[in-house]
Amino acid sequence: MAAFGRAATDITRGVVEEVICASSGQRTTLPHTPLDRRRRSLRDKKAKTSKSHLSSERVGHIELRFASMRAGVPKGVFAGAMIGDKYRIERLIASGGQGVVVEATHLRLRQPVAIKFAHVDLHDSSETERHERLFREARAAFRLRSQHVARVIDVDTVEGSPFIVMEFLRGTDLKALIETRGALPCDEAVGLILQACEGLAEAHDLGLVHRDLKPSNLFLVEGQSGPPLLKILDFGLAKQLSPAVAGGDDPDLTEPLIMLGSPRYMSPEQARDPRQTDVRTDIWSLGLVLQELLTGRPVFRARNKADVLALVLLKNPTPVSLLRADVPPGLERVLLRCLQKLPERLRDGVVAVLA
Ligand SMILES: Nc1ncnc2c1ncn2[C@@H]1O[C@H](COP(=O)(O)OP(=O)(O)O)[C@@H](O)[C@H]1O
Ligand SMILES: [Mg+2]
Repeated sequence: MAAFGRAATDITRGVVEEVICASSGQRTTLPHTPLDRRRRSLRDKKAKTSKSHLSSERVGHIELRFASMRAGVPKGVFAGAMIGDKYRIERLIASGGQGVVVEATHLRLRQPVAIKFAHVDLHDSSETERHERLFREARAAFRLRSQHVARVIDVDTVEGSPFIVMEFLRGTDLKALIETRGALPCDEAVGLILQACEGLAEAHDLGLVHRDLKPSNLFLVEGQSGPPLLKILDFGLAKQLSPAVAGGDDPDLTEPLIMLGSPRYMSPEQARDPRQTDVRTDIWSLGLVLQELLTGRPVFRARNKADVLALVLLKNPTPVSLLRADVPPGLERVLLRCLQKLPERLRDGVVAVLA
């Protein structure tokens, strides 16, 4: 394996190992405790009751949200529409960032799939670039075999609009999870991050940097017999570190659009110069997600993107032990390493632990 591949793997696996140590040597993916279950069922009950008493304010809010979800959606994308003669759209799942994601039915297989279209109003890039970026996302994700990466099934165009067909995931992304449950028990948060690390390790082995890890791009699949399964989504801003090594030939199309990545989870080096990023940028983002899972709040909060960026570049995150008393010291050390502003220091820290 090429040098960069080795380093990438060591760094990612280093973080995994540290997290495992920090959570007392147990590699568990942490089913919910009975207490969690009770809390969840109470919260579900509350949610049901509040739904049945929709105030006009809330109805207005839902309508507004629906209208904003339509923004950027390509013309032919609506419930009931056919995509070619293979897929029928059932409902809109999400519209934001760079894509519009719908649930659809593969008519011949009679199975649900998720389809992602490129946003129509990404005004800072040409149509060709937008299309190529979506295909590139599909190619990147398709190469990954980990169960912790959402599976890409197909990619195509319909009336000039490109789309990616993916396995349909039932469950919730971590953004929604944090909104509903707030801070998670330490072992549960660690279990989720470990799963993300596993998916990421495969990507890093192939020289692929995700560059947009954040709670909404990590999805928790429900409804299986085992513990909840976490999958990484959205390789839309991914960067191939060395095409020669990985056998790829994709140029990096994301540079002019780098601010599409969420500044809240962007590493300082990525904010300064996206071309200089390597796998360590993903480790920074994952550290932020871990701290958010432990505290229920994003690490960097400000009124606008510029202020968030200033915090990312200049402010050291509040140590997690000041926000929550029961975080084991080992886990706090992992977070400190992940959240070093300088990537060199981050790498040194992790490698030192491995040695
Ligand atoms: N395969 C899928 N199955 C179910 N929901 C999905 C799937 N892919 C994405 N989603 C949902 O759609 C949201 C947006 O998808 P994503 O690929 O992150 O698009 P964007 O580039 O717009 O951020 C995700 O946060 C997730 O909630
Ligand atoms: Mg996303």
